[in-house]
Amino acid sequence: MPTPDSLAQIASEVSACAKCALHKTRAKAVPGEGPETAEIMLIGEGPGFNEDQQGRPFVGQAGKFLGELLGLAGLKREDVWIGNVVKCRPPNNRDPMPEELQACHAYLERQIAALDPKIIVTLGRFSMGKFFPTARISAVHGQMRKVGDRFVIPMFHPAAALHNPTYLPLIKQDFAKLPELLEIARKELAKTSPPPVLAEPKPLSEAQKTDEPKQMKLF
Ligand code: URA
Ligand code: SF4
Repeated sequence: MPTPDSLAQIASEVSACAKCALHKTRAKAVPGEGPETAEIMLIGEGPGFNEDQQGRPFVGQAGKFLGELLGLAGLKREDVWIGNVVKCRPPNNRDPMPEELQACHAYLERQIAALDPKIIVTLGRFSMGKFFPTARISAVHGQMRKVGDRFVIPMFHPAAALHNPTYLPLIKQDFAKLPELLEIARKELAKTSPPPVLAEPKPLSEAQKTDEPKQMKLF
């Protein structure tokens, strides 16, 4: 039997990966982290200096700000799963190159399948490009769209918002809307998911109601 693809299994493969040139310059690969039960998955671009040193996503300045943004949604870092499109730091924080994005793509796909989140929040354009290749972030940020079995909300990258006063109020508004959008996503996905193993108790028929005292005696 094939071993089930778990987040831990994927993380251990990422930590030892040499599928693109970024492995040569990294200190540590950054597989991503969060509870296996998370309903929300956040996907950034790639590790920066601090992330590369620690092997953990969003632990530098952008990460601190991300924590504040999650707070606006009544969430803590520990409530969500956080990862990146490329798992190893591009030298000097340059943009990831097409061949690096392509080499790393399968890990993200597997992480999405393993976590099966209700909502994916893409942070920045590389992450958004995985789902909406032609969209403009300034036009679609904060708008939730169904993609396959889940919902995707593109948002600005926290680091970009920190440095651009135009994006700052927008990213805050978008995060503040997350609880409302999560409620919508939960309801919509409940409609399409298979019925639970235990059926909901049905109201008793008239006959069952009269039967009840008799049945009780049996126990
Ligand atoms: N920026 C990202 O896109 N990802 C990180 O993990 C940190 C900063
Ligand atoms: Fe492997 Fe991705 Fe790191 Fe490239 S960036 S070495 S594909 S984990």
